[in-house]
Amino acid sequence: MHVNDTPAPMSETDNAPASEQQLRDAMVERLIELGAARSARVVAAFRSVPRHLATPEVDMAKTYEAEFAAVTKTDPTGVNISSVSAPRIQAMQIEQADIQPGMSVLEIGSGGVNAAYLAEMVGGRGHVVTMDIDHDVTRRAEDFLKTTGYDRIVTVITADGEHGVPGHAPYDRIVVTVQAADIPPAWVHQLKEGGRLVVPLRMRGMTRTVAFIRDRERLISDGFELCGFVPMQGVGENRVRLVLLHDVEGEEIALRLDGLPEPDAEALRVALGMHRVEVWSGVTVAGDESTEHLDLWLTTALDNLPLMAAKIGARKRGLVASASPIGVPTLVDGDSFAYRTARPTDDPDRYELGAISHGPQARKVADRLAEEIQVWHSDHRTQRAHIEVHPAGTPDDRLPAGRLVDRPHTRVTITWS
Ligand SMILES: C[S@@+](CC[C@H](N)C(=O)[O-])C[C@H]1O[C@@H](n2cnc3c(N)ncnc32)[C@H](O)[C@@H]1O
Repeated sequence: MHVNDTPAPMSETDNAPASEQQLRDAMVERLIELGAARSARVVAAFRSVPRHLATPEVDMAKTYEAEFAAVTKTDPTGVNISSVSAPRIQAMQIEQADIQPGMSVLEIGSGGVNAAYLAEMVGGRGHVVTMDIDHDVTRRAEDFLKTTGYDRIVTVITADGEHGVPGHAPYDRIVVTVQAADIPPAWVHQLKEGGRLVVPLRMRGMTRTVAFIRDRERLISDGFELCGFVPMQGVGENRVRLVLLHDVEGEEIALRLDGLPEPDAEALRVALGMHRVEVWSGVTVAGDESTEHLDLWLTTALDNLPLMAAKIGARKRGLVASASPIGVPTLVDGDSFAYRTARPTDDPDRYELGAISHGPQARKVADRLAEEIQVWHSDHRTQRAHIEVHPAGTPDDRLPAGRLVDRPHTRVTITWS
């Protein structure tokens, strides 16, 4: 669809640089392999858009790598606040959105490239509105969309996504491409009944892109995937709070709190210096099996469960067993804490799950965490989690029983069946 001519493929010799179309085709193959692009129309969209034109400062081949996000802006503290998302994440969200020709789609968080894919999905009879809070971003997106011809289908707006874009509502689909801790009422009200909202929703520290279907005032999930996105700015800004337990450069260890009560940080720092207790659950996972399903269960079952993030230096020094930047679920109980971990088994492809804990009550906390790993295995491993979003103020007795995450605008529930 784009109006720029694709350059003719370069020489076919082995060491010739790959042409634009070869790069796109290779990217699409990889997206299919990863399960991110599944439908013919998504595949066609990703074969068409010359995404490298949105970030001319980046090496062209790099822009077609499935996992590469081109960061375009960083805040003064070093946090990335704008990027063109990685193709895998874009494809995954567009599949979740189930976009049909002729639809009207709002994208919150712009960059140009994703809006172009959305334009391919809705076609000439559809309409895409892409919005961003940052003028630099919308200016760049406009340039890209104009150069590629997608400006015929896409309208670019500069505003805070908190309020949506009422002027073009209602939408068949809303695709949010920035991390959200809450769902503002405008997103629900600007979505048609039965329409889909795809949003990277952060619940208790972890962000999952969730596909929701509107059912009057509530949203009901229809699948979700773990992901990472830049944080929301503006009215809805709500960053995770870090509590440092170890503050040596390169070895930092911190608890990531997401609306949880403030822990006794001093007591936990002392606990970290105490010997570790290990409790093993007897539950195993395959080497390539994600712990995301288990972690969502732990989030559902346990009250005071921040994430513990650590730098690689902390693991190298033996302070912690894991150096995940997102963090591992960590049960905090007063002066003690226990985090989820795994160890090799005799089977080279299987790992046993367990808990490592520190503090005066180390044994008790580790037992509690290991017990929930066993509950997950026996009762929930084959189940699916369901996420619902209800307006703030909905009484408890009108919510499904399960984990409740309260936010300023919403009450989010997680249940299993
Ligand atoms: C990951 S980027 C979007 C990438 C884009 N969808 C793409 O790949 O083509 C997230 C964007 O969200 C924007 N953003 C952050 N807070 C926002 C808000 N409250 N309203 C609108 N946009 C916001 C940031 O400025 C940033 O450009």
